[in-house]
Amino acid sequence: MSIDLAVVPVAGLGTRLLPLTKSQPKEMLAVGRKPVAQYVTEELANSGIRRLLFITGPGKASIENHFDIDGELIAYLRRTGREEELAELDFVHQEQMLYFYTRQRRQLGLGHAVLCAKPLVGDQPFVVALGDSMIGRHAQSDIVKRMIAAFERDKRPEEERMVVAFEEVPREEVCRYGIAIPETSGNEFRLRGLIEKPSVEEAPSNLAVAARYVFSPGIFRYLEATKPGRGGEIQLTDAMDAMIKAGATAIGIKLSAEEKRFDIGNFESYFESFLEFALADERHGAALRKRAREILKEFGE
Ligand code: G1P
Repeated sequence: MSIDLAVVPVAGLGTRLLPLTKSQPKEMLAVGRKPVAQYVTEELANSGIRRLLFITGPGKASIENHFDIDGELIAYLRRTGREEELAELDFVHQEQMLYFYTRQRRQLGLGHAVLCAKPLVGDQPFVVALGDSMIGRHAQSDIVKRMIAAFERDKRPEEERMVVAFEEVPREEVCRYGIAIPETSGNEFRLRGLIEKPSVEEAPSNLAVAARYVFSPGIFRYLEATKPGRGGEIQLTDAMDAMIKAGATAIGIKLSAEEKRFDIGNFESYFESFLEFALADERHGAALRKRAREILKEFGE
């Protein structure tokens, strides 16, 4: 069976978005008409994922509520004849999705959050999708499907493998991301290693890890052995680098030009994401674009 399980870390505190995220998880922020976590889920569902394991933390209960069936709300909408609003609750494959939740009890970093999935994932390959990043406008991307195909293509049963999504970033931004040490070039390439948030001088490329990964379960062994790294946190990137250096096959796939990564971890990119999704909204976009032109004029633009 093809990979149908994704681990979605959503435990981060969202400190770069205060006060917005004081009592509201950043993954539940609205981007246009839907919260971020729903775009991530829809994107994964469209790539064949059917089981989602969220790694949560304090204050994240609204994510669980969002994906639960709200019988009272449904009954109310039915009773009052609001079929259209009822339809808004649906998305493709929703019926087949299974949701699981576990808590990262200590904030020890992204690598530690993924390690929290080990008792549930066991001995099967899986996807990791960071819950604060959306791929493609309105999540219209099948990058994870392409990554799973690359993971499964000609793989020997005992071979350790990983596939990682990358986007090219301006040189001065490499210090914000995990950066590839590429072995080959092209849209699909081999990796020799990875380095978490290097300085511009140290950076071996401008290919930034873009929040989507596929791993063989062997990654857990490397996560268990990973010491705190950048920022004093247990970094997923460091475990990946160790796994590659121990002989794992590592494949990088570049996002296409239409597959922009929308990161909602800071205000600058959250505002941009909201603006782009709202302006492109099929129902409200046209009116908003008109209004936006007027507002820009008021700003003298
Ligand atoms: C994390 C990863 C980093 C990756 C980034 C992508 O960093 O550690 O390697 O490039 O996500 O969104 P964070 O944004 O949590 O600092």
